Amino acid sequence: MARILGIETSCDETAVAVVEDGRLILANVVASQVDLHRQYGGVFPEMASRQHILMIVPVVREALEQFGCTWSEIDAIAVTYGPGLPGSLLVGLNVAKGLAWSQGLPLVAVNHLEAHIYANWLVRPGDEMPLPPSFPAVCLVVSGGHTLLALMSDHGSYRLLGQTLDDAAGEAFDKVARLLGLGYPGGPAIQEASKNGDPAAYPLPRAWLGESLDFSFSGLKTAVLHLVQSGEAQPALRGKKLAAPLPAGAMKRLAIPDLAASFQEAVVEVLVEKTRRAAEEYRAAEVLLAGGVAANARLRAAMRERLSVPVRIPHPSLCTDNAAIVASAGYWRYRRGDIASWDQDIQPNARLPQD
Ligand code: KG4
Ligand code: ZN
Repeated sequence: MARILGIETSCDETAVAVVEDGRLILANVVASQVDLHRQYGGVFPEMASRQHILMIVPVVREALEQFGCTWSEIDAIAVTYGPGLPGSLLVGLNVAKGLAWSQGLPLVAVNHLEAHIYANWLVRPGDEMPLPPSFPAVCLVVSGGHTLLALMSDHGSYRLLGQTLDDAAGEAFDKVARLLGLGYPGGPAIQEASKNGDPAAYPLPRAWLGESLDFSFSGLKTAVLHLVQSGEAQPALRGKKLAAPLPAGAMKRLAIPDLAASFQEAVVEVLVEKTRRAAEEYRAAEVLLAGGVAANARLRAAMRERLSVPVRIPHPSLCTDNAAIVASAGYWRYRRGDIASWDQDIQPNARLPQD
């Protein structure tokens, strides 16, 4: 048995978790900075790293308290080395080095994209332990910074099948939410507004890119911008920036719910169809969803409806950034003896490790 303490500070969540054997969550603490960044409509990198400095030690303490045990019961420390914001990554990596050094524990460096995929191995306390995912698995990683399809043939073994050529899916949600005055973060705001909308109301473009498994969302975002600018979608909002959602009556009059639902449907349709194609082409035993956008209720439902292979989708709280995913990915690297050296650096532009 091995217990890994994971540390995640790649963006705007200061997170620490303890996971047993890569699966069972013993502690999971996330200090979100979302309220701090809301006023800027996005993550303000310098403020994010300073906030990590303030929060990291209390969050480590809280995770150990939740775990209810001592350092002697931890076998290794896993930490995100990238991709992410440089200043934010540096805080987590250096704290992890300090803890590993002082406690005499091995340090494991984890790729944040790989960590998202490992949400599919995690089990929350009190939940039943299902069988682990089977290989080969087609993984769809859809987050604020990344959108990719990968074939996972074993632990740590990936082949990139497709990726976004421009915006990430989550980035598109965030930008369109801002255009529609729906606030930050955009994904949950669009999901909420879509509840009262007609997904067929606006015929928005889908970038199929032929047979390719790559994605493109910038044309879709521009199409929404043009609708907003033409006044067709929300004449009363032209030139104004709204931080909070509009009152329900105004939302209806302005057709914001229809536009939000049409946008969400366009993103979901492309993600589902390309994932379906990849699963078929590579004879996947399972499809694994990962990343913040995998928390989207419409995406989750559509994947389950339209795919004929089993689809595994983590609990929404494990889709967005947290450290349990880092501890899980770190566990399999630790088991393979993949231990980082003391000169381990951050890699803000790291890609998913390839075979
Ligand atoms: O994985 P994540 O927490 O951070 C990154 O590694 O980027 O993903 C954050 C992204 C944001 O763009 C956010 O708007 C999106 O995930 N997101 C959602 C939902 N919840 C979070 N997008 C659509 N629907 C949601 N319910
Ligand atoms: Zn992430």
